[in-house]
This record gives sequence, structure tokens and C-alpha cells, in this order.
Amino acid sequence: MKAIQFKEVGGPDVMQIAEVPTPEPRPGMIRMKVHAVGVNFADTFFRQGTYLVRPKLPDTPGMEAAGVIDAVGPNVEGLKPGMRVAAVGLKTYGEYALFYANQTIPLPDFVSFDEGAAFPIQTLTAWFMLHVSHRIEPGQTVLVHSAAGGVGVVASQIAKAAGARVIGTVSSEAKVAVAKQHGADDVINYVTHDFAEEAKRLTNGRGVDLILDAVGKPTFEKGLGCLAPFGHSILYGRAGGPPDKLDVFRLFEKSLKVSGFVLFTASSNHDLMRKGTEQCFQLMKEGKLKMLIGRKFPLAEAPAAHRHIESRESVGKIVLVP
Ligand SMILES: NC(=O)c1ccc[n+]([C@@H]2O[C@H](COP(=O)([O-])OP(=O)(O)OC[C@H]3O[C@@H](n4cnc5c(N)ncnc54)[C@H](OP(=O)(O)O)[C@@H]3O)[C@@H](O)[C@H]2O)c1
Repeated sequence: MKAIQFKEVGGPDVMQIAEVPTPEPRPGMIRMKVHAVGVNFADTFFRQGTYLVRPKLPDTPGMEAAGVIDAVGPNVEGLKPGMRVAAVGLKTYGEYALFYANQTIPLPDFVSFDEGAAFPIQTLTAWFMLHVSHRIEPGQTVLVHSAAGGVGVVASQIAKAAGARVIGTVSSEAKVAVAKQHGADDVINYVTHDFAEEAKRLTNGRGVDLILDAVGKPTFEKGLGCLAPFGHSILYGRAGGPPDKLDVFRLFEKSLKVSGFVLFTASSNHDLMRKGTEQCFQLMKEGKLKMLIGRKFPLAEAPAAHRHIESRESVGKIVLVP
């Protein structure tokens, strides 16, 4: 089969299309004929050897995909060849990929493969942060950084559906409209405006109840200044570099809370994964949650897809098509 491989860590061009053996499902696993690969910002860290999971060279990037089950290993129940599914796993930049059955989500008819590829990581990350890490309530205000990005557009809509007011931040005027079309009530261009000052102004000085921050260094500490009393900031990425060390005494002044989030810790809780999946599919069915497929690239153009997501010009989900 064809798959993307890299033999050394580095820039996007270390990735090349290669002919590799088609993997055989081991016990507890399914094999997917991949129709759409979800590109995540974290794939760029994996390619550089700086992600939580380190590559074993030569390696294939990719953590999620959607497609059709074409083979099932021993000890798998409830999943059969021919089923349309999305899943979280490893080495998904290929024509076929293996996934553990318990990380595989059957797709309802109304969810396309492209939407499926945008679902397991970005959508469930957004749902977990809003409904598990924080318990979002109607009337709360949420500040969503990178609100036109993959996680950002779904997080804004899930927060909105829960009755929250959403203030998005983006780094260009072009993204302001995108964020507004996908759940944000107000959008701040945080390159031209001080986002913390703007967030306070937009909340009449009170501040926001929750911040979803995957930018890191340029935004995390500054964000504490625009949290309302008992406000909560969740750090779940570092696209702009790791934040500086936090002086916890800064939290006393307004009874603030900070936490971290990574989907790996959540995905072992199968009951919550099922609940999040059901709730998000229901929102999609009701038209309250729409995936934005920003751009699709042929599998062989994975380097261009990575350059695009690293450029800060991408919006929504980037998909590779084998
Ligand atoms: N913890 C988890 O389990 C988890 C799961 C999924 C994603 N994430 C994290 O969530 C973030 C969003 O992921 P995504 O896949 O949906 O990507 P994305 O938001 O579609 O793209 C990354 C965005 O990060 C922003 N950014 C800020 N500073 C940047 C910089 N110096 N270089 C490049 N981009 C920068 C850009 O938006 P603006 O310029 O408009 O801000 C860019 O569009 C990433 O940091 C990712 O690692 C974490």
C-alpha cells in the first residue's frame, strides 16, 4: 500500500510517499480502508520529534482517519467489515491503517468521511474540555483562542450550543468572518488588539469564565488577566511555544483555576468517550455543530498540508485523501 514515511525528523519535506506492507490487524484491532485522514497540528510536532509520542524511524505520521473497516482481528465484537467508522490511532497517513476497536467510532449516515476525519481528536477534545474539564453552564463566557482553527471552530459551536457566550481570537482579519460563522459571538484579532483588554471591554470589565488556550507562550499568562473571579484557563497545546513557568500566587487574587488537557488521558474513559460522541453527533444532526473542512490535499501532498497548517493561514480541518 501507499503511505507517507519519514526517515529522519525535520521540516515538512522529510515526508515522502512510499510503498509499505499493508498492516495485518492484531487481536482487538480493526483495519480501515482509509477515505479521509485528519491532519492535526500535533502531527507537525511528531514529524519534528518533539511530540509526547516519539517517532520510531522510519515512521508514518497521523493520529486519526475515517473510512471503511476491511478486516477485523481476533477478539473484536460489534465491528464488522463494511462498517463506516472514524478512529484515533497511529500511522494513519496511508491507504490502510490499524486501530484498536475501543478507539473506533461507527459513523452515522449523516456524517461524511471528511467530517469523520475531523471528529475523534478535535471535536472530542473540544467536548471534553467544555463538559468534563470545565462544566460549562448557560450564561458563562468562553474565550476560544485560534477560533478559526480545527479545534477552535468546533469548540466555539459546542460552547454556544451549551448556552455560553463565545469570544474568539484569531491572528488575521481573514479569519474573523470564519470564526463568526462558526459559533463566535465576538472575535478579536489578537495581532492588532490586546486580547485581554478587549475581552474585559466586551464583558464590561468582568472578564471571562473560561479560556481554551492551545497557543501557549504569547497568550497563557496574559489570559489570566482577563479571567472573571473563579475563572478557569485550560492549556491544551503550545502552537506559539510553551508558556513561561506560572507563579501560582497569581491565582489567589481572583480565585482562579488553571488546568491542562490532553485527549490521551480522556480516551481511556470509554463511558465519557461514548457520551461525548453521542452528544456531538446529536448536535451535528440538529445542525448546531458543523465541521469546517478548510482544505483537502492528496495523500502524496502531506508536506504541503503541513506547511499550510504551520502557516497560520489554515481554517478548520485539513484532510488528506489517499
Ligand atoms: N491536548 C490535546 O489533546 C489536543 C488535541 C487536539 C489539538 N490540540 C492542540 O490544539 C491546537 C489546535 O490544533 P488544530 O489541529 O486544531 O490546529 P489549528 O488550530 O487548525 O492550527 C493551529 C493554529 O494555531 C495558531 N497559532 C498560534 N500561534 C502559532 C504559531 N506560532 N505557529 C503556528 N500556529 C499558531 C494559528 O491560529 P491563529 O494564528 O489564528 O491563532 C493556527 O491556525 C494545537 O496547538 C494542538 O496541538 C491539543
